[in-house]
Amino acid sequence: MKHFLTLNDFTKDEIYEIIELSKKIKEEVKSGKIIHRMKDKSLAMIFEKSSTRTRVSFEVGMTQLGGHALFLSSKDTQLGRGEPIKDTARVISRMVDLIMIRTYKQSDIEEFAKYSKVPVINGLTDDFHPVQLMADYLTMIEFGKNKNPVVAYIGDGNNMAHSWLMLASKLGFELRIATPKNYEVNSKILNIALDNAKTSGAKIIIENDPSIAIKNTDVVTTDTWASMGQESEKKQREMDFKGFQINKNLMSLAKKDAIFLHCLPAYRGQEVSEEVLEGKQSVIFEEAENRLHAQKGIMAWLDQKRG
Ligand code: CP
Ligand code: NVA
Repeated sequence: MKHFLTLNDFTKDEIYEIIELSKKIKEEVKSGKIIHRMKDKSLAMIFEKSSTRTRVSFEVGMTQLGGHALFLSSKDTQLGRGEPIKDTARVISRMVDLIMIRTYKQSDIEEFAKYSKVPVINGLTDDFHPVQLMADYLTMIEFGKNKNPVVAYIGDGNNMAHSWLMLASKLGFELRIATPKNYEVNSKILNIALDNAKTSGAKIIIENDPSIAIKNTDVVTTDTWASMGQESEKKQREMDFKGFQINKNLMSLAKKDAIFLHCLPAYRGQEVSEEVLEGKQSVIFEEAENRLHAQKGIMAWLDQKRG
């Protein structure tokens, strides 16, 4: 049985398998064919942080797969009142077929998975957002940006930056990350990526200068400067991230046909200008829709592996 906690737990072939399945399911839905690959199965979704896309894509995805999804806010469950993770995991996993969790600490989701009888999916932690990256890669394929792409991630060295590190280092493409000083990616995660890159041939470049990182890239992406849980740092971060906004000037340094991705929610006038976000190169809503297709791919793949 496999969990989906970080892309580092997957081989390149497994990542492609999930992407292929997601593409197939998307094509089926678009042609009016709904196959109930998870008929009568249940997905528990535990949220300790807010969500729009993740909740809707998993919930609707499960319905389209013929199953059912339960939304469990930690506030309304006994988890929020201190019931240990290991007990919650053993209880819920005896009742459902799949569990998706959005929480703070990666170690919490790992502990949950250790005690779960069914596959656990990471719906975002402070360290990683792997389900988002599957949708992002699907979008790159659809826009023809999957043949030796060069990707620039400009902004905070957060869960999205770490997830890009995992995807690039597994699949073997070039990733350039530019963050302000003191907002660099986690060095442990970077070392994992550098180690993966030795096998995959990925090129990982870490920068503090966005204009160098973005030069001639095929894909440009960013994320909020203050992630969930960092609300009190918002003002300070706005000052520290000056010069890191993806605007027309910065975007003009990427290739002419580069695409712009953003996991959303986006903060206009901060990490991205209105002009770029709403501009021709932006494919953010295609990317957001792909959450639905990719999430179904992940769930169906994990379910198949479980047998
Ligand atoms: N991108 C993303 O995960 O969005 P939500 O926080 O709305 O789920
Ligand atoms: N880095 C952001 C991503 C939101 C989808 C956060 O963790 O809040």
